Amino acid sequence: MRRKVIAGNWKMNMLPDEAIKFIDDLAPLVKDVDAEVIICAPYTDLFYCLNYAQDTNIHIGAQNMHYEEKGAFTGEVSPQMLKAIGVEYVIIGHSERRQYYNETDETVNKKLKAAFEVGLKPIVCVGESLEQREAGKAEEIITNQTRLALDGLTNDQVKATIIAYEPIWAIGTGKTATSEDANNAIKAIRAEVARIYGEEVAEEIIIQYGGSVKSSNAKELFTTSDIDGGLVGGASLKPDEFSKIVRYNEQ
Ligand code: 13P
Repeated sequence: MRRKVIAGNWKMNMLPDEAIKFIDDLAPLVKDVDAEVIICAPYTDLFYCLNYAQDTNIHIGAQNMHYEEKGAFTGEVSPQMLKAIGVEYVIIGHSERRQYYNETDETVNKKLKAAFEVGLKPIVCVGESLEQREAGKAEEIITNQTRLALDGLTNDQVKATIIAYEPIWAIGTGKTATSEDANNAIKAIRAEVARIYGEEVAEEIIIQYGGSVKSSNAKELFTTSDIDGGLVGGASLKPDEFSKIVRYNEQ
């Protein structure tokens, strides 16, 4: 049985005092849950989040990183820098980064390899646009993105990767994929992993759904055969609402 992993992606929200209060408020609400709980915070909040989450079951992740160790890359943060302050997870290839910051399948792949080199756990995002979905290309797009992201990783590294299937048209729009559609898309991603890395790896890899997840739809999504939890944007900004998503099985 795969574990459930529920991650909040705060995106560009939360000042340090808000982040501290959030972690303090969330910790007691999720302390005894079975699911793994992750908060992916802006760089400027990471140190505070790590400190305040220390004696809790909340894991901390970043939302991006460079693939180089160091050098003349003004404004960038390296995998080593994240690792050095104790960050555990990192989101790679979010559609907003692919759309606005020139992230490509190639840089996503480099970042995945760089993450494993320093022992960061990657959450890699794949997902189709509305146009691609309407053209009947969703499956082709997401399986391609998956194959290119994982290219050259060992079986153990693939097993340790979390994939987040986030259809772009469902992000921040209030439109959620139906649980059946999301589950089928995730099955297709799992089948692609099985084709390249074998059934055992595919059975183990965690694949989340993201896109307008909230407490009212989390249970339906997360109790399907293949959806192993969620990557949550807007609804991860309120401890109460986020804790209900984490406790989806009690809704
Ligand atoms: P929303 O939950 O706000 O739709 O965002 C999803 C997302 O992009 C998480 O990474």
